Amino acid sequence: MPQPTLSFGRSALFDIPADITYLNAASLSPIPRLVRDAGAQGLQRKVTPWNFTRASFYDIVEAARAEAAALIGAQPGDIAIVGSASYGIATAARNLKPPSGSVVLTLAEEHPSPVYVWIRLAAEGGAAHEEVPRPADHDWTSAILARLADRTRPPVGLLSLTPLHWNDGALLDLAAIRTAADAVGAMLVIDGTQSIGVQPFSLQAVRPDFLVFPTYKWLLGPYGLAFLYADPRRQSGIPLEEHNFSRIGADTISNHYERALDFMDGARRAQQLHHAAHGHRRYQAVAQRRCRANCRLPGAVDQPPGRRRRRPRFREPPTPTSRRAPDRAAQARL
Ligand SMILES: Cc1ncc(COP(=O)(O)O)c(C=O)c1O
Repeated sequence: MPQPTLSFGRSALFDIPADITYLNAASLSPIPRLVRDAGAQGLQRKVTPWNFTRASFYDIVEAARAEAAALIGAQPGDIAIVGSASYGIATAARNLKPPSGSVVLTLAEEHPSPVYVWIRLAAEGGAAHEEVPRPADHDWTSAILARLADRTRPPVGLLSLTPLHWNDGALLDLAAIRTAADAVGAMLVIDGTQSIGVQPFSLQAVRPDFLVFPTYKWLLGPYGLAFLYADPRRQSGIPLEEHNFSRIGADTISNHYERALDFMDGARRAQQLHHAAHGHRRYQAVAQRRCRANCRLPGAVDQPPGRRRRRPRFREPPTPTSRRAPDRAAQARL
């Protein structure tokens, strides 16, 4: 008798018992064995902290950043490493100022993470917050386009949207919304939590001002790790946290009393690096992408042919974050 093969939805890559059929990845995906092992390796680094160099705070981080960038066809410097979707949206809100008198538009019945910060902003006297009511035909795109074009109501200054509605999966045509938003000068913030990793995303067509995507759903990673893409025009803003790991020269720093005020280039300035600088979470993010390739999950990204790049191999000493030449002495043990 031939051995039964793994049936649909089952894979040796996951540690899922034969009597469990798990379908709820939209809530929490299972972590594949490979990712679990990478996480263990990441934790192991902290078991022997005496082996740490200054560069160790950046190597895994930079590798994860490059993986995340490749996933959406961006550059590593466009990606900040943050802790959650809401953290990314809050970072966007800190750096985008919708004109006074305009509104921030979100979807009715939306997940709270891409919404709360705009409610707060409105309460503090910023742009008003408005929800697009659920259309009877579930055609969110037409409803948003109609609202954008409606000159009888306050103009839309910013849209905070998801590629698909989180509660029923209804798709939005973000490229069409971007075009209409351009026509009225509105900014676009995307929460890709339910999309990136399982649905193609065209950075070129959507051109989000900010796009955030956590790893714990369709990227098969852990909680507490998310990537925030910032359009190059949005990379000179202010992060939510004030710490030294995001400052120029931080990766080579030898003097902790020096007050370096210049932020690193690009999205690296907005990252929660010092909270979990070198943990298993970073490592898992790297490994999950490899696993995703092996699994052949439907996560292929819509990358224009000219922009497909080889994934950069990370080399020590990792100092792409600094404009200064690497300081070998400072990369010695802390
Ligand atoms: C659309 C969407 N955004 C965000 C989140 C989670 O946000 P956070 O990472 O802030 O917890 C979820 C979780 O279900 C979601 O479905």
